Amino acid sequence: MSQLPGEYRWVHRHLLDLESLSADDIRFVLRTAEGFEEVSTRSVKKVPALRGKVVVNLFFEDSTRTRSSFNLAASRLSADVLELTGKGSSVSKGETLIDTARNIEAMGVDAIVLRHHRSGAALHLSRAVNCCIVNAGDGQHEHPTQGLLDIFTLAQRLGRRSHYDLSGVTVAIVGDIAHSRVARSNLHGLLKLGAHVILVGPSTLLPRGLADLGCEISHDLDAVLPRVDAINMLRIQFERMTSQLFPSVREYAHFFGLNAARLRRAKPDVIVMHPGPINRGVELDAAVADGLNSAILQQVTNGLAVRMASLFLVVNAQKV
Ligand code: NCD
Repeated sequence: MSQLPGEYRWVHRHLLDLESLSADDIRFVLRTAEGFEEVSTRSVKKVPALRGKVVVNLFFEDSTRTRSSFNLAASRLSADVLELTGKGSSVSKGETLIDTARNIEAMGVDAIVLRHHRSGAALHLSRAVNCCIVNAGDGQHEHPTQGLLDIFTLAQRLGRRSHYDLSGVTVAIVGDIAHSRVARSNLHGLLKLGAHVILVGPSTLLPRGLADLGCEISHDLDAVLPRVDAINMLRIQFERMTSQLFPSVREYAHFFGLNAARLRRAKPDVIVMHPGPINRGVELDAAVADGLNSAILQQVTNGLAVRMASLFLVVNAQKV
């Protein structure tokens, strides 16, 4: 079992991306998450780890899973949680992101969880305020806690928890790679832990430059399926497309959608993941989304422990 070096210390006051974390950092968050998992099984689902701290959920894009997961995670750590959205706040009156955040911070906030439509927004904010920033998705850039919870789920299913060594594991990330912050975070995290990653999609949705990171690129899902241990299916991000990037949704589903017939080409125990929300019948058929290979609800459950760990670590950086 690979151990973290004796001198290892978590030093990050912000969780902005997985690209800038080391493999040891990623392992440390995931091991910390393992420690928090049990809290959610108690009848009183709370620990005092962040008692007296204030966490603000600042969301400028729609979200169900991520937002409620961060809210519950902070609550289970006993932090006070404040919910703010772009729509109901002064941002809709023209206030800048930095002004909004500085005003929130002036109320004595320890961490801001930010979701924003602009890539780089979380980094920008981390340079302007003193509190911790956790990126809950910035444009097409990264969604680090989703990447972490996907890896946590994968390791759980493969029996590779605690050491989180993914060498010999092949993961296909399928679909709208170009617009997906989930794909980028998964890619960085998986490669750092030693997995082989195949990005699969139509050429219009697959930036070629990503191959430089050390992954494989394919446009043929059927050819790739027999080789993979896990498939992470992405949602087509219609809201981020400025032009039509494939002929029709039907044709997309025909070549890149995962249905029961296509799944039979894969290993019998292949793990099927999806970050949600699912476009049923487009990237995933109901039979697959709800079938035995699906880890989708396990991902949601694991999101809580991973977000508890992320919030706990950034707020206590240097101390743990
Ligand atoms: C993802 C997101 O918002 O980036 N969803 C999520 O966080 N659960 C993926 C998506 O919207 O397709």
